[in-house]
Amino acid sequence: MRKRIVAGNWKMNKTHREGVEMLAQFFKMLDFEISLLEDTGKQLPEIIVFPPFLLVADAAMLAQGWDVKVGAQNCSSEKEGAFTGEISANMLKAAKAGYVILGHSERRNYFHETNQIVAKKIDRAFESRLQVICCVGESLQQREVSKEFPTITHQLEECLFHLTKEQMKNVVIAYEPVWAIGTGKNATPEQAQEMHNYIRSVISGKFDKETSENISILYGGSCNPQNAKLIFSQPDVDGGLIGGASLNPKDFMEVIKAIL
Ligand code: PGA
Repeated sequence: MRKRIVAGNWKMNKTHREGVEMLAQFFKMLDFEISLLEDTGKQLPEIIVFPPFLLVADAAMLAQGWDVKVGAQNCSSEKEGAFTGEISANMLKAAKAGYVILGHSERRNYFHETNQIVAKKIDRAFESRLQVICCVGESLQQREVSKEFPTITHQLEECLFHLTKEQMKNVVIAYEPVWAIGTGKNATPEQAQEMHNYIRSVISGKFDKETSENISILYGGSCNPQNAKLIFSQPDVDGGLIGGASLNPKDFMEVIKAIL
């Protein structure tokens, strides 16, 4: 059975203090939900939070004892050295991060990250034994000219095809159509299912059926308490990468509950 995952990408939001307060509120709600779930046979998905770098170490400490993982939103493509302003995968591992998001469209668009850079970052992440959420997604223009499938294929090939099957076990894919991120315009459940199924077929073609069946594929892009249940009910959607709605603990909890 594939892992179901609901992850919160805080992006560049929350000071240290605000973030700690938000986590405390979230854990309180989580405690309550866990008590409700007792004896129902239902299981929470894997929950991961991705705060800004400055909070990673403390968030990881606060999350101890909760079944919540902490990750970073980015890492350097370099190992260490004279790279002013960069944060290495190794530093994140030492701060007790378990995951790193790589290839997010905001990194690709605003910071000009290419597939080659994403591939290099994935290698650094694996050298430091971090798990990776690798984001792929087409722009509105690409969808309008029916280029969404070749676009995604290209991203998967250049970001992931150099990995071994063993390494693929530590990869989660997030399908995030760029036109849906932060726009309030989510992909329909059918559009998400169609692309997730397609991604699985590409992975199966390159690696094997087992790898494609075992890899978790998350949907991201304006996922919220209103639309999450329908999106998560699709057979190839294994959870979500949540931006805006993860900044409100109540909304984030509702999205998590939508997968139960
Ligand atoms: P959004 O962001 O939920 O605010 O659209 C999703 C993401 O960028 O991961």
